[in-house]
Amino acid sequence: NLIYRAGLYGRRPRVPVNADALHTAAAAAMSSRARGYIDGSAGRETTAEANRSAFDRWQLVPRMATPVTTRRIGVELLGLQLPSPFLLAPIGVAEMVHPRADLATAEAAARTGTPMTVSTQASVPMEEIAAEMSAAPWFYQLYWGSSDEVAFSMVRRAEAAGASAIVLTLDTFMLGWRTRDLDNGFLPFAHGMGIGQYTSDPEFSKLVEARVRADAGQTDTADAQRPTAAAVRALLGMSRRYPGRLRENLRSPYPRAAVETFLETFSRTDLGWSEVARLREITDLPIVVKGIQHPEDAREAQRLGVDALWVSNHGGRQLDGAAASLNSLVDVREAVGDELPLIFDSGVRTASDAIKALALGASVVGIGRPYLYGLALDGSAGVQSVLDYFAAELDISLGLMGVTDVDQLGAEHLHAGRPVG
Ligand code: FNR
Repeated sequence: NLIYRAGLYGRRPRVPVNADALHTAAAAAMSSRARGYIDGSAGRETTAEANRSAFDRWQLVPRMATPVTTRRIGVELLGLQLPSPFLLAPIGVAEMVHPRADLATAEAAARTGTPMTVSTQASVPMEEIAAEMSAAPWFYQLYWGSSDEVAFSMVRRAEAAGASAIVLTLDTFMLGWRTRDLDNGFLPFAHGMGIGQYTSDPEFSKLVEARVRADAGQTDTADAQRPTAAAVRALLGMSRRYPGRLRENLRSPYPRAAVETFLETFSRTDLGWSEVARLREITDLPIVVKGIQHPEDAREAQRLGVDALWVSNHGGRQLDGAAASLNSLVDVREAVGDELPLIFDSGVRTASDAIKALALGASVVGIGRPYLYGLALDGSAGVQSVLDYFAAELDISLGLMGVTDVDQLGAEHLHAGRPVG
């Protein structure tokens, strides 16, 4: 309502309301490498395109002459009462677009009560992000790399820092063929970005120390602990854009070894269902597995007792030519029945997209790139603007559909129109 009135009285918002204008404005505000990393998807980016066009196949069918004066957009997920059916998808390397990175996002999440999913690739340690969240719920997204010790340590830290769930991402056991990054000669991690969870981790520090010793061919670490000239130069390069990061990275005794060790431990090509089962044993927190597309995988995860599935193709960043995430949602909902909560993301740009996903069986919808655009344009206030726009549009559109409670959305609200375009 407030957003609407401000607009009608001629005040132009700092963060565009229109989804395409938001993207255009943010793209202009980002460095070309940041743009490539954030907007880029895998290969020819056909998965990302499919994610978008899948929404166009469905059309909303509004009902008329239904009183909608009181409307409810809150939902329940994993025992939490959420103010809206939205949550923030995990996005790493936010320092590329804003110096306060995840901290700014956390502020907006806390102010709106929107759950934030804190990435293993975050720029800032989860404990500092948790401190910004105050009472608002947050989830920890785990990349389980080649070191079990590091993965377990991160789960313990998430428990201690007050996470409400562990989200295990299964679709990124190795990095996709990210063509824009390859053409830009840019991998954030190789530039020491997006490794905040690692450089603050005691188990990861042990791996780095071992590496430093091995590199120096010695057991005495005194000399090896000093950052090399090349590492300092790389950090100075970063510091022009991110002064805060430089100080933080220099506090770490061996930044270069940390980056190299990170690159070695990130991939886990033999990650299997046994790791999901193991995660169930080592934590009492609810477990969500993210990156599910195939109905059989959904059933397997369900058999293993996970608390929710997160249907996603990582915004098209992993496998090029993959099924649209919205199409997978339909298959997965059919496979697991009505009860298991499904979080859905990949391609959601407006509340109207979210309504389609909710009508097709999603319980909650993850916002991805759009909030990073808000972050790039106006920091924490920008993320909040984007979240406010989603909630306001959802409220208006539900009313226009004759729906008073977001939980009532179902297939009867959709028409399977012909593909558009
Ligand atoms: C991501 N995503 C992601 N997922 C995850 O599990 N851990 C992570 O660290 C990241 N990092 C990340 C960085 C960037 C720049 C993007 C764009 C995405 C995937 C994310 O959680 C979500 O699945 C997608 O963003 C959804 O697609 P759209 O809606 O953003 O296109």
